[in-house]
Amino acid sequence: MMNSMRTTLAPLARRAASSAHSTSAKSGATIRLSGSSSAGAALNSRLPDVDPDLCRLIEQEKARQRSSLVLIASENFTSRAVLDALGSVLSNKYSEGYPGARYYGGNENIDQVELLCQRRALDTFELDTEEWGVNVQSLSGSPANFQVSFRGGVPWIFLSWQHNIGAGLTRIVMICLQVYTALLETHDRILSLDLPHGGHLSHGFQTPTKKISAVSRYFESMPYRLNEETETIDYDEMERSALLFRPKLIVAGASAYSRLIDYKRIREIADKVGAFVLADMAHISGLVAAKVIPSCFPYADVVTTTTHKSLRGPRGAMIFYRKGQRGVTKKGDPIMYDIEEKINFAVFPGLQGGPHNHTIGALSVALKQANTPEFVQYQKQVLKNCARLSDELQRMGYDVVSGGTDNHLVLVNVKSSKAIDGARVERILELACIASNKNTVPGDTSALNPGGIRMGTPALTSRGFGEDDFARVAEYFDRAVKIAVKLKGTEQGKKIKGFREMCAVGPSVDPELVQLRKEVSDFASSFPTVGFEEDEMEYEGEYNVDFVA
Ligand SMILES: Cc1ncc(COP(=O)(O)O)c(C=O)c1O
Repeated sequence: MMNSMRTTLAPLARRAASSAHSTSAKSGATIRLSGSSSAGAALNSRLPDVDPDLCRLIEQEKARQRSSLVLIASENFTSRAVLDALGSVLSNKYSEGYPGARYYGGNENIDQVELLCQRRALDTFELDTEEWGVNVQSLSGSPANFQVSFRGGVPWIFLSWQHNIGAGLTRIVMICLQVYTALLETHDRILSLDLPHGGHLSHGFQTPTKKISAVSRYFESMPYRLNEETETIDYDEMERSALLFRPKLIVAGASAYSRLIDYKRIREIADKVGAFVLADMAHISGLVAAKVIPSCFPYADVVTTTTHKSLRGPRGAMIFYRKGQRGVTKKGDPIMYDIEEKINFAVFPGLQGGPHNHTIGALSVALKQANTPEFVQYQKQVLKNCARLSDELQRMGYDVVSGGTDNHLVLVNVKSSKAIDGARVERILELACIASNKNTVPGDTSALNPGGIRMGTPALTSRGFGEDDFARVAEYFDRAVKIAVKLKGTEQGKKIKGFREMCAVGPSVDPELVQLRKEVSDFASSFPTVGFEEDEMEYEGEYNVDFVA
């Protein structure tokens, strides 16, 4: 029993376990493709035949996704239709530029794919095309935020890679950077939610001694924070800071904030200092699309979002930008937005090359799915599930940051509730097949040893979990925390290194943890899988891997 945390892989695979089988499968493929050239046949063979090693890892990952409780607030299970588009021939095409203006020929279909995606993106958020445009090429959330900050583009950049082999680090040093600096000049100021208070790295995080995000290297970032009593955004303090710091951009968005953001108030503050408002709705874009929480669009100049979180699309990002009139001069003349071209230029050629057309195709599918009554129903359930999770945790004596949740996530202060840190709890949860992440909570002094755990409901809701199921999730969480507290009390568990080791190595694994893992895994496996059918899985038996200490 003790060893089950380290058991080697359960026998994988009707297919991948035997190379003899894959050989015969290969010849099967040749027969199926008779008439094609042998080179063509080889290139048309399926993954299990070509690369059983990778296939095995993918099957193992399917097993993990099926057998575990995915509570990572930024994750979701995208649909099979989205995965179909992701794995399509759209990946083959180079299409630098934009629809109708490409640097390569042969883009007649790709142009249609991108236009379809743009149309669906604007439809999903009910945006008037006279007032809003969208760039769907941005590769992910962090580059999207950087692209918004960068004005115009980067005509040429020399990159020199410096290898610091001793420290095992690789640094990119930009030797020469010519920036026509969309919204900001280099060194312009950004006001954004502090990372330890729920913000995101890409909003310009820096420590007292180190500029961490590239955004903080090129721009001057200043944080606003939560009121430590209410644990909600301190808008009065934000206003005071804005009046002193005079930012050119205020970021309204977060990675670990469970309350609604008062976009109207932020707009008012921004207007007092003439700043742009960038709403980064990465976490909540699915909820906004379904209109189950208030939208940021009426109050923002630019809206960025990742597409793989609550929106349930492929891994990517979108940048929405305003068009039309921004305001009036003192004389009453109209001031027009001029950011469309700058944002598009910042994405390409400024900071990217060819767009990932398979992702854009897959995003079109996800947006079509987001425009359905089922999606609205799903998002309502995400909220209900999260509210229940939060209530149950509080009933069990946990301090939930800000006293509850209005969205898809809860932040639990395990340090104040149970005198344990987030790192140890995250580790025990992971070993119990519950995926979550440690997170800073207001009042933490160390980001490396935070006191919280962040959990979200989008992924499990996609698998059909309802409120009562989340009550059970809360019970599993509580059991894991109790195990963590117990193990921390042992001699070996005092230090985090020892704690990690004792939880990874067979004989010392706690029997309660082994039991918890089994129950969680059975429970999770009883729900439908998303993106693949269970009876297609090659991995058989219980999901078990070696955990690294
Ligand atoms: C609010 C917010 N913005 C941006 C990002 C960055 O997204 P990506 O990981 O795709 O760069 C995240 C990621 O978690 C996020 O939470």
